Amino acid sequence: MAKDKQDRVRIFDTTLRDGEQSPGISLSRGEKLEIAHQLGRLGVDVIEAGFPITSPGDFDSVQAIAREVEGPVICGLARTSALDIDAAWNAIRDSERPRIHTFIATSDIHIERKLRTTREDVKGQARAAVAHARGYTDDVEFSPEDGSRSEVEFMAEVIQIALDEGATTINVPDTVGYTMPDEYAAMFARLYELVPDLREVVVSAHCHNDLGMAVANSLAGLGAGCRQVECAVNGIGERAGNAALEEIVMLLRTRASTLGLWTDANTQEIARTSRLVSRLTGYPVQPNKAIVGRNAFAHEAGIHQDGVLKERTTYEIMDATTIGLEQNSIVLGKHSGRHALRKALEELGFEVEGAALNTAFARFKEIADKKKKVTALDLEAIVSDEMRQSPTAYGLEWFEVEASSSRSPLARVKVRLPGGELVEGSFTGDGPIDAFFSALNAATGHEARLKEYHVSAVTAGRDALGEVTVLLELRGFLATGQGVATDILEASGRAYLRALSNALADSPVAEAEHHLERAEAASTPTP
Ligand code: KIV
Ligand code: ZN
Repeated sequence: MAKDKQDRVRIFDTTLRDGEQSPGISLSRGEKLEIAHQLGRLGVDVIEAGFPITSPGDFDSVQAIAREVEGPVICGLARTSALDIDAAWNAIRDSERPRIHTFIATSDIHIERKLRTTREDVKGQARAAVAHARGYTDDVEFSPEDGSRSEVEFMAEVIQIALDEGATTINVPDTVGYTMPDEYAAMFARLYELVPDLREVVVSAHCHNDLGMAVANSLAGLGAGCRQVECAVNGIGERAGNAALEEIVMLLRTRASTLGLWTDANTQEIARTSRLVSRLTGYPVQPNKAIVGRNAFAHEAGIHQDGVLKERTTYEIMDATTIGLEQNSIVLGKHSGRHALRKALEELGFEVEGAALNTAFARFKEIADKKKKVTALDLEAIVSDEMRQSPTAYGLEWFEVEASSSRSPLARVKVRLPGGELVEGSFTGDGPIDAFFSALNAATGHEARLKEYHVSAVTAGRDALGEVTVLLELRGFLATGQGVATDILEASGRAYLRALSNALADSPVAEAEHHLERAEAASTPTP
């Protein structure tokens, strides 16, 4: 089928911005870079890399992505203030293709209750923001926040102002996930009537999933003329999340003959991108999740299995290989050398050299001793696990957990502090994991509380690598951490210490208070 340029849908990925706003997600600069490189391989058109004004860490990550990731447009988010826009520009300016995305709410409830201002002021702010952004770059996106709940005539006036000042993309978000497909499509139809200039720019859909309608609403937006869709890998994002990237891309591909729309996404990278985002964010993918859930291509009922064996299309509308599943041709064993490992990693898209290669090789050997075959999935898990080990985080040096059915489990641990010092702790608990995590709290002097604990296997088989995700709370901060090892206790310890390190990185105040309390306790004379 010939592809008409007019029918190309731009994929605007906001995993690192709206997705990163999900509770408990705190990605380091290196992790964000890793995801951004993978999004580049996936072939998205735009990466919204962050919201630079919000923290120095966010600024640095956006800047690093802008400097390193080639191909997609790199976008930074900004409210309408000049300070926000300056920060966004300074973070993205080194990209080959920088975009500033500025937004202000246009619904009365947001204007009156949140911004505590007037419609006139909103118009003035939108005008000034787009003009200021255009002073820096030709690529400026404007969003009327809470668009789907805004009075369409007023929103049209604001959009016209943004266009007059030179905005090149207009994105109309369903910020609170309230709209329905017919309503969202009707809103765009009315906007095209009220603002004919919209036909000269790219119009974009951005939908949240509070009522489970994000992908359906995005599709309705595309039907009404949008040619950019904003989405996040695995559907992560504020509250119930954003429209899931993989669902949109595969919907457009699988129903191409009906919809007549297409994207430049390389669908073969979908499975891997989903695994990476899940692993680094600590948000597991539900087993029955469309496209990337582990059951998405599994057939349980005998009648289905029989049908698929005879003819795959009896029960399958997509081929698993299209999204990069079942491509695990790489298999290494315990005799494989450094060269074979480097080649395999290269094939997987990891450029690992020097000290990083030595660490990856040592880790590979350790695992290959316990596991007969090390597959692509294992390598991916090990490399992401190693990349996540920051020198400023706590490290698990040694542990011992005694468990039996007749007495309370006891755990003893030795932890490496960020400065290199070794500390020890021991504790009993209701179960081995409880004892282990309490011993880690005792060693580090923190009172973190476990909120969620998940364990899964990276591949099938009894010798599979175990992957653990932990969500904990420390002084009101939620943070996740992941760990991978053949021993699930070791994976659990790694995950717990990473979550603890992430909670502290997110809350430097908590870290400073903690050190002060410890110093005070040490200097208080005992009676
Ligand atoms: O949901 C929303 O309104 C947003 C805007 C910043 C585009 O994320
Ligand atoms: Zn949003």
